[in-house]
Formats: sequence, structure tokens, C-alpha cells
Amino acid sequence: MTLSGQRVLLVIGGGIAAYKSLDLIRRLRERGARVRCILTAGAQQFVTPLAAASLSGEHAHTDLFDRDDEADIGHIRLARDADVVIVAPATANLMAKMAGGHADDLASTVLLATTLPILLAPAMNPRMWLHPATQRNLAVLMADGVRFVGPNEGPMAEAETGPGRLAEPLEIVAALEQMLVPSGPLVGRHVLVTSGPTHEPIDPVRYIANRSSGKQGHAIARAAAEAGARVTLVSGPVTLPDPPGIRTIHVETAAEMLAAVEAALPADLAIFAAAVADWRVADATDRKIKKEPGRLPSLALAENPDILATIAHRVSDRPGVVVGFAAETNDVVVHARQKLERKGCDLIVANDVSTATGVMGGDDNTVHLVSATGVETWPKLRKEDVARRLVAELAQRLP
Ligand code: C5P
Repeated sequence: MTLSGQRVLLVIGGGIAAYKSLDLIRRLRERGARVRCILTAGAQQFVTPLAAASLSGEHAHTDLFDRDDEADIGHIRLARDADVVIVAPATANLMAKMAGGHADDLASTVLLATTLPILLAPAMNPRMWLHPATQRNLAVLMADGVRFVGPNEGPMAEAETGPGRLAEPLEIVAALEQMLVPSGPLVGRHVLVTSGPTHEPIDPVRYIANRSSGKQGHAIARAAAEAGARVTLVSGPVTLPDPPGIRTIHVETAAEMLAAVEAALPADLAIFAAAVADWRVADATDRKIKKEPGRLPSLALAENPDILATIAHRVSDRPGVVVGFAAETNDVVVHARQKLERKGCDLIVANDVSTATGVMGGDDNTVHLVSATGVETWPKLRKEDVARRLVAELAQRLP
């Protein structure tokens, strides 16, 4: 019973391979999973809601505007009351809708509303699979964190061969087990990551901020989850989506970020990648500051708490390894060494954020790892690769 107690939401798309989804329901239930199905209009041309309901033992959902369904559970709860979503078969159209963020029926609306991990099992004609549009959508969905199983190569219903066959139900089950039963060097560990900027209000409509995009911090959270960790991501205001399967806590100010970090303890490893504002506006007002001709307001600033230093200096529940970032524009390593000492952390990941480097908001990063034992300089890497390499390195340092 490898999937015992897991709640699977199975979205069945409209393709001839939909009949295999019925077998998939049986296989999932044999392993102890609870399965709830959504059938698209296309799917219902191939299999019936009654068959899906009979095999799953749960009502099968079909209609976004069904009054009984909405009163009973509703599409937003459907998107939440599960542990994982499988889309099988995922048609070219369903992939396109997901990649484009469309929500024009129950299946696509739930897929847009969910923050659960998603496993897609595509099935379509090989030419449709290989079409640049589908390949583009595949890349977009992978970047969004969607996982894929298949498609396989082989004879197709239309007497063609090529990539496009739905993965076999047992392959889909195996991919799901791999997704849900974590493996990797951080299994059983709790990793806490801060990411993004903070916004410090001046008045209800204005704030002080910085150029951090959250790309590096979010990539670290994803890499830690890939390495098997349970991850809490405390994120300032960013335009990035929440990484699937990761508990993401949204905050705005440094004070809120500190409170969220403290509430998330204990952790085995804490990585502070956020660009926290050093100062907040001391006398932020609840009323919008009026513009008056000839009068220039001046802002009095107050110091923000240093989250990294606060956590690194904790006595009772200090995380086993505490990592800080140092964004500098000159003498990067010198400043990082001082910061390591001052903040009391175990490692500083230092990077040059001079405008010419394009690091702030960009996709690449060149970092130096500064610890008590020395400095290690890595080549220019994509932020995802910096994240993976950093997580692998830190996993070895954990007590
Ligand atoms: O002092 P500086 O801002 O350069 O230090 C950067 C490191 O300290 C980063 O890891 C950042 O997340 C953390 N930091 C913090 N709270 C602050 C300021 C910085 O956690 N108020």
C-alpha cells in the first residue's frame, strides 16, 4: 500500500487513451490511494463519468457550472482537497491551456487554481507532440514545476508510430510514487528559505523596495525539495509562482519576515536568500501623504531587525546550518568574510550585484562560498544550477 492515504485528483483529458485512465484508477486504489476524477467534455466522448465514479468510488466531476457540484465541493476545494493532481491523458489542448493559464472549463480552472504538485501524462498524435507549439508548452510547464511521465514511443491508434503514447498505468503509478515518496540527501530534513525583497511602507500606497526578483531563493527552495527536504519558503513580494509542493508563506515587511521565520522553526538548515530592507520608515502613516506644492516630505528611517543574525545567534533552536547571502558591488569576498563573523552564520554565499553583472533579476549568478575554512569560487551558472549545487554542498555539512 505504497500510496496509502494519498488523495489523488485525476483529470482525464479527451483522447482515445482515456480508457487507460480507468485502469489507472484501479491501480491507484490497489495501492491505497483515494481517487477523485474530473472528466473534460472530450474525455466524456471516450469514457463515462459513471465508469470513473464506479471505479473510484467517488462522484466524478464534469461541469464548472453544475449547481449541485458547486454546492457540494466547489472547484476551489477540488483544487485543494488532494495531495497531488494527475492529468492522464494530457492532450495537446489541455497542455496549451495550462501553459497559457486558461480557465474555461472545470479541468482547466482546477489546474489553474491548484498549488498541489502536478504530474502530467501526455498522449497525442506524434505530430502534435512534436509540433513546436506543444514543445514550447512543455518547456513552459516544466519551468512551472509540472512533472511529466511519458509520452512513450510506439504504435498509435491512428496506425502511426512515434512519441505520443500514454505511459502505461503502472509507469504513471511509479512516477507518482517517486514524486510523493521523497528520496535524496535531505529526506527527513526541514529546510527554511527566505526569498525576494521586502516592501517597507511609507503610507498605504507607497513603499521602499529593492530589485530582488526572488529567482535565486525560489530556485534554492525547489532544489531543497528535489533533494527530499520538507521546505518552508518565506517569500517577500515577487511575481514568481509558488513552487509546487512547497509551503510558501507570503510576507511584505522585514518584521513580518522575521515573525514568519521564527514561527517556522525548528529547521535543520536555514538559507537566507532574501534581500531584506535594512531600514523601514519610522513614521509610516495609515493615511496617504498629500502632495503639497513646495513642500518636500522627508522620511525618517528606523533600523530593521537582521533576520539572519537573529536566527544565527539563537541558543535553543538554532538551525544546524545557517547560510546568508551577501550582495555586494565591490570587494565581494572581503565584505563576505566580515559578514560571516558579524552575523554568526556558517556560510556566506557572496555575489557581485553591480549593474553590469545583471545578477539582480537575471537568470545567472557567479558566487563565492565563504566559510571559516576558506573561499570557494564557482563559475558563472544558471540560478537553478547554483541552487542545486549549493543544496548538495549544504547537505554534506549538516550535523
Ligand atoms: O547585511 P546584508 O544585508 O548585506 O546581509 C545579507 C544577508 O543578511 C542575506 O542573507 C539577507 O537575507 C540577510 N539579512 C537579513 N535581515 C536583514 C538584512 C539582511 O536576514 N535585515
